[in-house]
Amino acid sequence: MARKELFCVRVEKKHGEEVRAILREHALLSTEARVVSEGDFLFFPLFGKPSDEIMRILNRAVFMRRMFEVSEETSVMRIPYEIIGDIAVLQLSDSYASVSDSYASDSISDDSEISDDSKISISEMAAEIMRRHKHVKVVAMKVSGVEGVFRRRNLRIIAGEQRTETVHRENGCRFKLDIEKVYFNPKLATERARIASAVASTAAAEGERIIDMFAGVGCFSIQIAKCSPKSIIIAIDINPDAIFYLRENMKLNKVSNIVAINENVSNIYNQFENFADRIIMNLPRESHTFLKEAVTMLKERGIIHYYTIESAYTEDRAMRGRKEVAIRRAEQKLMTHIEKAASSAGFDVSVDVIDARKVRPYSPYTFILGLDIAVRKSCV
Ligand SMILES: C[S@@+](CC[C@H](N)C(=O)[O-])C[C@H]1O[C@@H](n2cnc3c(N)ncnc32)[C@H](O)[C@@H]1O
Repeated sequence: MARKELFCVRVEKKHGEEVRAILREHALLSTEARVVSEGDFLFFPLFGKPSDEIMRILNRAVFMRRMFEVSEETSVMRIPYEIIGDIAVLQLSDSYASVSDSYASDSISDDSEISDDSKISISEMAAEIMRRHKHVKVVAMKVSGVEGVFRRRNLRIIAGEQRTETVHRENGCRFKLDIEKVYFNPKLATERARIASAVASTAAAEGERIIDMFAGVGCFSIQIAKCSPKSIIIAIDINPDAIFYLRENMKLNKVSNIVAINENVSNIYNQFENFADRIIMNLPRESHTFLKEAVTMLKERGIIHYYTIESAYTEDRAMRGRKEVAIRRAEQKLMTHIEKAASSAGFDVSVDVIDARKVRPYSPYTFILGLDIAVRKSCV
């Protein structure tokens, strides 16, 4: 063991778990050193300085430097990464990414607030990832969040082949995609399997008519198409690259019961009036603005798989961060939005929530939620 000065936050023990969860979520918690317990306080070692926004959320934590015992062995797990096909993507927190930006390109900036000693070599880490995962041929790091209408992110390749196209395997399917040109999130694999098996277990013998309103490269559509070969899926996406790969993926997975459409769903929904038994709305930040389209396209009775982002922050400390808080809020908002949207389309609706769950964390105290709702509609 060696000793090294690292950035850290000091927090009272009673707030420890809350703070740990926030730091983990933002990829700030260093795995180079262990959390230190001293008297009434815990000291969490960090990769870098948290952004002002995170410091505001961690309002009881004090940001400081202190000495930690660190493992001398190179730990590739210091920074979380995800693997998509044969590409590893380093999940750097925004603050770390900006500090390490120059480091990655081998010009160490003097005005960085992190001492050279506590920096981690990105290229060393990339090499270690490739040693550990023999199938990984490219290591990239994200240099932006998921942005814009197409929900894409910018990446920089830091090791291996110069490409961003790959084939990812998920739940027995193969998805070809360019991770810079289209949205893709491997962490949604369980959710996609859940929906595909819900369709397979409830679809009538003759299959369902399904609309995947924001289909991307077809991760939901293709898994459903495979599990329910008699169903017909209309898969829509505004991003031409997403539809290009969706069509490639239909061939790769040998499914023909999907109609892929490159369009803004708001321009074509009238063509599908009263068409769908089931609709998937996987655009969590904006789903609520497309409910008029969804209700119009749904048959008199149908199911909507609705994804949304909701906060679980509350003044009540006992309830703060609990998924029940976020779910209750999301249900209330959905009811208001859907009634308004339906009425603007000339329908009355009655809605039952079949299931509501946390799909994954989004930011401190905030989750991406999945709400499955049964809708009955009638003309006003
Ligand atoms: C969060 S991604 C979901 C992709 C896919 N469902 C998945 O699980 O990987 C949202 C997708 O919606 C598409 N999109 C955004 N606005 C749209 C619109 N108005 N009409 C159709 N597609 C849209 C984006 O291009 C993006 O591919």
